Amino acid sequence: MLDKIKETAAYLRTRAGELPEVAIILGTGLGNLVEYIDDKTVIPYSEIPNFPVSTVQGHSGNLIFGNMGGKRVVAMQGRFHYYEGYDMKTVTFPVRVFKALGINTLFVSNAAGGMNKEFKVGDVMIITDHINLFPENPLRGKNYEELGPRFPAMTEPYDKKYIALADTIAAEKGLRLMHGVYVGTTGPTFETPAEYEYFRVIGGDAVGMSTVPEVIVARHMDMRVFGISVITDLGGKDITDVPTHEEVQKAAVKAQPTVEAIVKAMVERC
Ligand code: HPA
Repeated sequence: MLDKIKETAAYLRTRAGELPEVAIILGTGLGNLVEYIDDKTVIPYSEIPNFPVSTVQGHSGNLIFGNMGGKRVVAMQGRFHYYEGYDMKTVTFPVRVFKALGINTLFVSNAAGGMNKEFKVGDVMIITDHINLFPENPLRGKNYEELGPRFPAMTEPYDKKYIALADTIAAEKGLRLMHGVYVGTTGPTFETPAEYEYFRVIGGDAVGMSTVPEVIVARHMDMRVFGISVITDLGGKDITDVPTHEEVQKAAVKAQPTVEAIVKAMVERC
């Protein structure tokens, strides 16, 4: 794994230009955020050694280097999901490479189903914590001390200063911004009414099929993390709406202006 990380990082150094300070993983329906990146270098995943190719519709696979809010950034347009069949080491490999490029800040975004009764479709939620309900932990197996400790603390998975900064920005811009706990599950099924209810009872506000593996690996390497969910559907025992991938994408696109405003300002000021 260490050799692969080094090889991929070495390749990207030849293509990236000036190296970024911030990496951004763009979730379902949020790929258009790349329009806010200037002077782009777009590298399809297929050209990057050791990178798998994303298979889901609505997830194009590009790594994009450029400038946003006066900072050098790299964005993943399309991520690798566990439900696609990738193992956890593959799902989280890009985060390993980001750290190897010297990046210490990771922004993650996703589409998620809301269980919190205050939430509405199209709401944007800052992730304050998560619950890992994947059947696996990406750190299972041999630990490489040069990457991080065997037993990393998860006391502050999402950086408190970033959360406060997002709140400040939302207040300045008059944006509705929710807070909540993200439950990470494998999918690809959406939840049954009883499952949404269960996730709410155990402390979850939103549920999705990504993010948790990447955040665990980022924290293993002591990267600072900021996470944002777009609430694309609601679930619970009284809710009969049937979520579809198309609806999820549509709702995510609707929330995009808010996400863009927050992320752009966050990059500028983080
Ligand atoms: N459940 C799981 N993942 C999701 C959902 C959901 O309701 N909406 C968007 N991603």
